Amino acid sequence: MESLDADRASLMIALPKGRLVDQTLQLFAAAGLPLPAADNGRKLILASAVGDIRYVMSKPADVPTYVEYGAADLGICGLDTLRESRRHVYEPLLLPFGYCRLCLAAPVDRPDTPLRYASQPRVATKYPNLTADFFRARGVNAEIIALNGSVELGPLVGLADLIVDLVETGSTLQANGLVETRTIMQIQAVLIANRAAYHLKRTAVENVIGRLRTHLAPG
Ligand code: PRP
Repeated sequence: MESLDADRASLMIALPKGRLVDQTLQLFAAAGLPLPAADNGRKLILASAVGDIRYVMSKPADVPTYVEYGAADLGICGLDTLRESRRHVYEPLLLPFGYCRLCLAAPVDRPDTPLRYASQPRVATKYPNLTADFFRARGVNAEIIALNGSVELGPLVGLADLIVDLVETGSTLQANGLVETRTIMQIQAVLIANRAAYHLKRTAVENVIGRLRTHLAPG
């Protein structure tokens, strides 16, 4: 008969497709956690090769949504995605990859102007909530233009005066004639947990967190 013990229930973990996935899988393997079974890349829910963890392969921006609603018990995403989402989840563990920063950037020929615009600056970004927070806190009435990518194009094509975007090496800014003028937030990957699952599936959740923590900070 199937056990009704919630602690022994299988876990669903939301993994972000894209730039964080390789390091996430490397970390899980190094920590001794079961990896998703091999697939041709189109399947969206993957069982682990051993054990009873299942993985849902998500668009990164959707990971906090899956976890807040309990569709996934745990998830991995960037702090940028999490803060922008405004989702309410636990954040038991910062992870040592995905390092970058969320920055305000301006055209290189007028780097000192961003917060001195007399009129409403137009700001292109993939992070409308975080950008609005940043300008609101400084009393600047910015017009936020939400884009889905290649935000650096904004000032080049006359769409925006400024951008708010992730900077890792700085080479994309440099290649497009932009310069970083403020660091808004330091970013790295984070493990997030559904608040109910954290308690109701405590043994299974703590097993995953404990293995990751032990691997990251042995002893
Ligand atoms: C990210 C970010 C910048 C770039 C920063 O874009 O939005 O464009 O990387 O990296 P760098 O400082 O090392 O140059 P991504 O590659 O995710 O593509 P996107 O802009 O289309 O979302």
